[in-house]
Amino acid sequence: MGRYSELHRRSLEDPGGFWGEASERLDWWRPFDTVLDDSRPPFYRWFTGGGLNICHNAVDRQVEAGRGEHTALIHDSPITGSGSSLTFRELRDLVARFAGVLRDEGVARGDRVVVYMPMVTEAVVTMLACARIGAIHSVVFGGFAAAELAARIDDAEPKLVVSASCGYEPGRVVDYYALLNRSLALADTPPPRCVILQRTADPVELDPQRDLDWHEVTAGAAPADCVEVEATDPLYILYTSGTTGRPKGVVRDHGGYAVALSWSMEYVYGLAPGEVYWAASDIGWVVGHSYTVYGPLLHGCATVLYEGKPVGTPDAGAFWRVVEEHGVAVLFAAPTALRAIRGQDPDARLIRARDTSTLRTLFVAGERCDVDTLRWCREHLGLAVVNHWWQTETGWPMSANPVGVESLAVPDGSIGRPMPGYDIRILDTHGAEQPPRSSGEIVVRLPLPPAGCLTLWGDDEGFVNSYLERYPGFYRTGDAGFFDDEGYLHILGRVDDVVNVAGHRLSTGGIENVVSAHPDVAEAAVVGVPDDLKGEVPLCVLVLQAGTTRDVDRVIAEVVAKVREEIGPVAALKSGVVVSGLPKTRSGKVLRSCIRSLAAGEQVTVPPTIEDPDAIDEVAEALRRIGRPPAGGTAARR
Ligand code: COA
Ligand code: AMP
Repeated sequence: MGRYSELHRRSLEDPGGFWGEASERLDWWRPFDTVLDDSRPPFYRWFTGGGLNICHNAVDRQVEAGRGEHTALIHDSPITGSGSSLTFRELRDLVARFAGVLRDEGVARGDRVVVYMPMVTEAVVTMLACARIGAIHSVVFGGFAAAELAARIDDAEPKLVVSASCGYEPGRVVDYYALLNRSLALADTPPPRCVILQRTADPVELDPQRDLDWHEVTAGAAPADCVEVEATDPLYILYTSGTTGRPKGVVRDHGGYAVALSWSMEYVYGLAPGEVYWAASDIGWVVGHSYTVYGPLLHGCATVLYEGKPVGTPDAGAFWRVVEEHGVAVLFAAPTALRAIRGQDPDARLIRARDTSTLRTLFVAGERCDVDTLRWCREHLGLAVVNHWWQTETGWPMSANPVGVESLAVPDGSIGRPMPGYDIRILDTHGAEQPPRSSGEIVVRLPLPPAGCLTLWGDDEGFVNSYLERYPGFYRTGDAGFFDDEGYLHILGRVDDVVNVAGHRLSTGGIENVVSAHPDVAEAAVVGVPDDLKGEVPLCVLVLQAGTTRDVDRVIAEVVAKVREEIGPVAALKSGVVVSGLPKTRSGKVLRSCIRSLAAGEQVTVPPTIEDPDAIDEVAEALRRIGRPPAGGTAARR
């Protein structure tokens, strides 16, 4: 049996022994009573009774271990033409001072702090400072609109919001401060205090009653030490999309998260302390939380915080410049980013123009990675490319090629094998386990390993309903897939109404709610359709209110603008069609999967219960007029 198989077997047979050993990588101030606390299923907890602090382990412990002068955080910002770096000692001192600011503002253990910031050093410092005093951070991605931020503020009920005057996207300044003000006006429970980072080139006039200037208050603050928290205390809430329009607040702990991340840094990603790791993700997503902020620092690695794009800042060679300049050993990127780079530099001229010899492995995740892109990267970078699979709820990879343990012969197109602690099964809709090569829903036998979602914020019932009820004893991933004969896992796509746009997870239901609220729209269906660059993009099919005489193109343009305004530019809804009726079953269920298949040029399975078969033809015709499916693809009907 290979080393990977042995580790995986042991993790399932003896989770207490396996994760107990892994926990020795960290500093504990109080030993835990039990590794796996299964006293309250299905709410499993790890390291109950233990006392520690993840910020201490990520920052202070590294200084104490003699890494104080090693680089911890590299900020690289091609958009602003600036860059800087902090050593572990400098990071500790800055985090301690900002933690002092939070403490002085009355933020205490268990209080929430919403962070709405661009990719800047101060954002990472803010997250770590919250952890330092036991406060719970909730980072909201900058590409969301004011209403989405307001919904998260109302759910998390923060004591304070930390934001910035602005962020920079290619060609435009994102007015974070205006978005913040709008969202506070919309929120039912706006916090009384905000701390605002003034970006030097674009400061704003602060509200003297409400706002503090990030740098001003931090400069004068007395540092705060790390407080001891329970291993099971919440570290953060990270909102993600599900089937309904309402975002789900995934809650994660200090102890289990620190153990799993620190283990994965060595065994999954194959890094040694002192090396440079770069997860090219925004801190607003789980990848940013786990592998831009906590994972690398917990392992004593330097992490790169990149405020730029894969292309256009200034060109498709930007990633390779960062690798060369900072000596990146392992890069983690979204397939969309690599598709964008390949699209603009197909001959890899810009790769050859740089010295990328420090780079050992490229990891991809977040969305489906097409085999052509994976092979292009492998060929032109001359290194191992690992496609791995996980999600906001799990916090670290469920399935991968664990190069730090053993390089498995993963076939292209697979996402590797289950990682330790993940007992992954494929079930059909009746809950029967499927043999190799038969597809079904991918589930994980409970308990999830350390770092798995504890619950949804303030909604234990929603947690059980969303993930645990459908297949008792298992966690639903929401993805469909199959194992091949060699035990490698393959992903087919989501089983729910989630659309994955450029690696960003969005709810089609949420977009549909916004579209349907347009006064001229009677009904709408939003589906994810294939896109060469972003993997998937949303598309809407509308039925106009009876008697509307408005110009159809005008209404679609308004709907597109409304989604951008209410959900945010990241939703990337760009097109739609108008029909006289949506295809439905006789019981009134909209046949979204038929619409999706029509737009993708796939076989369309029309159920016998369809109310009006002509509705399918009408949608097909309307889609054809906007170039769906793309040339060459024709939707076959069954
Ligand atoms: N703040 C504000 N707006 C943001 C934002 C942020 N942090 N991030 C993205 N947006 C905006 C963009 O400006 C864009 O607005 P626009 O419609 O006015 O142009 C919109 O949201 C869509 O952004 P994006 O998804 O970045 O698409 P793009 O067409 O601008 O760029 C790529 C294409 C390929 C460069 C880009 O999609 C990309 O870098 N993809 C990789 C994403 C990634 O790393 N995902 C992993 C998450 S784990
Ligand atoms: P998020 O929670 O935003 O990280 O999105 C997680 C979802 O992205 C998963 O449930 C999958 O649907 C998808 N996903 C993540 N990684 C992969 C991958 N390597 N291949 C295919 N889909 C992926």
